[in-house]
This record gives sequence, structure tokens and C-alpha cells, in this order.
Amino acid sequence: MSFTDYKVADMSLAEFGRKEIRIAEKEMPGLMYIREKYRASQPLKGARIAGCIHMTIQTAVLIETLVDLGAQVRWSSCNIYSTQDHAAAAIAAGNIPVFAWKGETEEEYWWCVHQTIQGPDGWLPNLLLDDGGDLTEVVHRDYPQLCQEIKGVSEETTTGVHRLYQMMGRNELKFPAINVNDSVTKSKFDNLYGCRESLADGIKRATDVMVAGKIVVICGYGDVGKGCADAMAGLGARVLVTEIDPICALQATMEGYQVTTMDEAAAMGDIFVTATGCCDVVTGEHMLAMKDNAILCNIGHFDSEIDMRFLENPANNIRETGIKPQVDMFTFPDGKTLIVLARGRLVNLGCATGHPSFVMSNSFSNQVLAQITLWNDHYDLGVYTLPKKLDEEVANAHLAKLGARLTKLTPKQAEYLGIPIEGPFKPEHYRY
Ligand code: NAI
Repeated sequence: MSFTDYKVADMSLAEFGRKEIRIAEKEMPGLMYIREKYRASQPLKGARIAGCIHMTIQTAVLIETLVDLGAQVRWSSCNIYSTQDHAAAAIAAGNIPVFAWKGETEEEYWWCVHQTIQGPDGWLPNLLLDDGGDLTEVVHRDYPQLCQEIKGVSEETTTGVHRLYQMMGRNELKFPAINVNDSVTKSKFDNLYGCRESLADGIKRATDVMVAGKIVVICGYGDVGKGCADAMAGLGARVLVTEIDPICALQATMEGYQVTTMDEAAAMGDIFVTATGCCDVVTGEHMLAMKDNAILCNIGHFDSEIDMRFLENPANNIRETGIKPQVDMFTFPDGKTLIVLARGRLVNLGCATGHPSFVMSNSFSNQVLAQITLWNDHYDLGVYTLPKKLDEEVANAHLAKLGARLTKLTPKQAEYLGIPIEGPFKPEHYRY
């Protein structure tokens, strides 16, 4: 009988997806290293993983790595705009249940998440792999009886990790969690160097705007904001930064960026990028003060940063014109227009294809290692990060591809520094 346990946009895209997956595999040496290292021992045998991460080509390589190591998986995307339909089709063509397409409604989004939790013949997950915390929340809220069966969740992003620590603080977390985001080889690479490439990609594909000479306002100067600021400055923009944290604000000034408030910056910026993981960063008041033709976008996880409701509220008499998918123009009563990308959702995944494969190989290697340890080892209730040794192993798996050669400590040097020749090379408190 043919395989029907999926819902994607267009199965005729499967071959295109498969070709791009093959190219991505060559750019994802960490995942390929993990496949080689663990395939024979099948460390994920018996694991039934429900996954909720942007259904991209890179995620397809992640999914197939989990399957290669013995897991059964069911998948949905963690954002309504982020699926690459050819990637989803290729996964479905490989008889892996996937429920994801670009441009889902909110209702369809939640339907897809539920499909990953309840499969045919009583299939239920015993491990979760999440990005942003929606899957984790749904399981806690709608499937409380399942929480005991679930050995844990590995969480991809800053916002999801933040939600996990909040749940833990309220005594609501019902299974152990691994904070993948705070592996150094995740947040100091994906959030920083990933966004440094994919922010510009999203803005350019959406608008073709010339960035050089423009004033770009970056809200939030954490790992993501740092990458975004660097990208825009590299293209010749004048970068303004807003921050609430004096340390990050001081870092921005050291890079030569002007740090100011949104109240000041609103009337100055040509392009606004929110990267805070916070809410109400760009408000209606700010939009009223903005220049004609200003571009607004968000690269943080949720669409809580730009006040879309202000733009959509009929009482404000703002006329909306769709330019193309994920690009909308809003005309104010005085004739001024603002251009909003991906309706305030992640611009790099909504308007482009997210981060490049190589950096996602770092992130997803941490994900696979987290899944392996959650499945095979015992964890008490809590939120954990992976040991530094594994972080170093992930980095190591990516060096050869770039032609990097690592210096090896001599026994005398190791003794002088008081560290093992094979690492870990840094204490836990080292910040990179
Ligand atoms: P972070 O915590 O390192 O940085 C956020 C920064 O925003 C902090 O420095 C914080 O002080 C600042 N901030 C908070 N509220 C603010 C406000 N109201 N105004 C100005 N600044 C404010 O977090 P990170 O890792 O940079 O992530 C930021 C967001 O991006 C999160 O939602 C995360 O999940 C998401 N993310 C998105 C990715 C993508 O591909 N689009 C990739 C990685 C993370």
C-alpha cells in the first residue's frame, strides 16, 4: 500500500528536494560524522521522536540522521512560513511522516503539530525535539498523560529555552530538557554567523533594497543582533542599536554602533530589524514616526516584537497592499507607506531559506547528541546543557571541511595549563 501518512504542498517537488538534500549533506560534516560514528550501534533504536523545527533542507538532513540511527520520527514546522516545500516533499517521499507546508494558517499549524504527536496504530512519541517550545507546551497541556512516557525534549532556540526555564521555575516542567541553544557550537555560531548571512538574504529576496548608505536599526544586541549588525554594516549601512542590557549596549558601542532608544531611532531608520525575543519592541507610536518606505522585519522567534495588530486594526485606517507572498505594504492615512516582511515573523525563514547548511550542521549535531543522551541516559527533572567535551567534538567535526588544522598540546604544555591533552580545553565559566 502506498504511504499516505503525511501532508505537504506538492509531492512533485520531491526530486528537487532530494537533489538539494544531497548537496546539503556535503556541507553538513557534523551530521555525517555522527552518522558514521553511531550507525552500527543504532543508539536511537526504540526512540519515537516528535519533531517541531522549520522544515527546511537542513532539517531534512537532521531527520534522516535520526532515522539512520534507529529512530522513528514524525515532523512539523515550528513556523507557518518557514517550510521549504521541496524539503517536506522529499521527506514524505522517503516514507517519513511530515506535516508542513509554506503558508499554513494558524489553525493548520496547530493541526500539523498534533499530527506529530498522534500517529496511526496508537503511535505516540517518547522523545521530543523542539524549536521555540510550542510542541513542548502542547504536550504538557493537551497530552498530560504522555509526559511520563517522554524521556525528554531537546530545545533549539533562545526563546524556547527561556520558556523551559520559566516552566521549571513554576514547577510545571514534566520531563527533562536539554538546552541545545547554549551549546557554544550552537548559539555562538547559528545565532551569530547564521543570522549574519540569512538576514541579508531575507531582506534582499523580499525587497532588493540597496543597504549601503541606509540607516539600519537593530533592536537587541545578543548573539542574533550581533550577527545582524555585522551583516548590515558589512554592506555599508549605518547601524543603530537598541538594548536594555548595559553589557550588550557597551559591546555595541565598542563595535562602533550608535546605541539609542527606539523612540529616537524610529524617525531615523530606513530598515528596522528586531532580534530581542521580547514583545512590543516596535509599537504603533514608533511606526507613526517612521519615514516613508521604511522596511520593518523581525528575526526573533515569535511575531511578538513588531505590533502587527496596530497595522491590522481597522480603527487606524491603514490600507494594506500585498506585494508578493510575505511582503506587504501598509499605507497610512497621510499617504506614508511602510513595508513589512513576513508579517513580523522570522524574516530569514519567511522571506529566504534560513541559515546555510554548514552552520546548521553545528546546531543539529548538538540536537542529535542531545537526543542520543536523553534516550540512553537517565536525567532527573531539570534543564541541562551538553557537556563541553561534546561541544568540542562538534566543533572538531567541522574543522577539516574548512581546511583548519588544530594545534595539539604537548604533555608539558598540558601540564603547564593544567588541562588534559584531549580537552576539555576551557572551564565551564569561559564565555568564548
Ligand atoms: P539573546 O538573549 O542573546 O539576545 C537578545 C537581546 O535582546 C539581549 O541582549 C536583550 O538584552 C535584548 N533585549 C531584550 N528586550 C529588549 C528590548 N525590549 N529592546 C531592546 N533590546 C532588548 O538572544 P538571541 O540568541 O540573540 O536570540 C534572539 C531571538 O532570536 C530569540 O527569539 C531566538 O529564539 C531567535 N533566534 C532566531 C534565529 C533565526 O534564525 N531567525 C536563530 C537564533 C535565534
